[in-house]
Amino acid sequence: MNNTHINIAVLVSGRGSNLQAIIDNIENGTIPNASVSLVISDIKDAYAMERAKNHGIDAIFVDPASYPDKAGFESKILHLLKEYNIGLVLLAGYMRVVGPTLLDPFKGRMINIHPALLPSFPGLHAQQQAFDHGVKVSGCTVHFVDEGVDTGPIIIQKCVLVLEDDTQDILASRILEQEHKIFPEAVRLFASGKLNIEGHKVRIVE
Ligand code: GAR
Repeated sequence: MNNTHINIAVLVSGRGSNLQAIIDNIENGTIPNASVSLVISDIKDAYAMERAKNHGIDAIFVDPASYPDKAGFESKILHLLKEYNIGLVLLAGYMRVVGPTLLDPFKGRMINIHPALLPSFPGLHAQQQAFDHGVKVSGCTVHFVDEGVDTGPIIIQKCVLVLEDDTQDILASRILEQEHKIFPEAVRLFASGKLNIEGHKVRIVE
């Protein structure tokens, strides 16, 4: 068992409702041995930055346009992660594919939330992809990040029904409600040392 304190960094690009769910679950004691120490955004005016500041969390904009290439951009992020002694990185609506500069030092310590039942509908606009395909069930997935796009070992998934009168927006909000439950739960399990990666499978050892 691992009961040491973990400093979390959350990478965001937008609204930050999943960031908020993580913060709330830490503040209400559901995730006892972790704190969000740093929020990094690749979008200057992302609302997630405001949410972080409202909770006294350092929120830093790293501008991809200021670096010649992805490796340079990710080196800056890596530098910040080291400075804040980060033990777990969460991708919470971070709309970039993570490259080796950032992934390699955090392999097995980087977790993403995706708004579809992977391996179906990876990449962008997953809810729209699922809706347009006409699936009757969709959902969300929390997984460790690997070199692929949304291909890493799955930690938790949650299903939602697609109903006859749904619009893409209604479906997305039904999925989001479940995202806000399974992402904090995955973080709680990680922070308490209960996730074992075995090949491409994650075993939960409660
Ligand atoms: C969430 O639905 C998340 O699953 C999705 O972006 C949204 C961010 O919302 N992520 C991806 O699509 C990643 N490919 P939020 O900023 O309110 O958490």
